Amino acid sequence: LSPPHFPHSPSPRPLMTKLLFVCLGNICRSPAAENIMNHLADQAQISTQIECDSAGTANYHTGNPPDRRMQAAATKRNMPMTGSARQFTKADFIAFDLILAMDCENYQNIIALDPQGQYRDKVKLMCDFATNHSDQEVPDPYFGGAEGFDYVMDLLTDACSGLLAQLESTEFKNV
Ligand code: 4NP
Repeated sequence: LSPPHFPHSPSPRPLMTKLLFVCLGNICRSPAAENIMNHLADQAQISTQIECDSAGTANYHTGNPPDRRMQAAATKRNMPMTGSARQFTKADFIAFDLILAMDCENYQNIIALDPQGQYRDKVKLMCDFATNHSDQEVPDPYFGGAEGFDYVMDLLTDACSGLLAQLESTEFKNV
């Protein structure tokens, strides 16, 4: 059976959607989100259609690997982490299709770099995509115990799955 032909359908969407996950330090939450999303995209066999990166609004940890406690929580779930921290910059507004803030402070710090609001539609709160958690924000685990890192993994797995489902039902249609 040949594929349906839609002579008046809109032109195909771009093949690649670029996602940037942003937290404060870029050593706990946002590298975990990046890693989880890559893992889910691999599982769904759409890793050629999604590109993920992460950044921090602060520069305290620039060049550092993910926090050891976050790595431990990720490794427990068979998702060993890679990456080195960098700070969010204005150029990221152009380079990425979606910018996902882990909490409201991250969100405010990101949009403060876009005073004209040109890129406002690209910036979203990560928890808006969660379907099994009612959290509004991904809690900062840095000053707490191991359970906080496990919780971040669960919440981010939920939110990344929801985001992936939305992308699959919109971005990747007609490709
Ligand atoms: P993240 O966690 O924003 O999820 O990477 C933090 C990392 C470092 C600090 C705070 C939060 N810090 O204060 O150094």
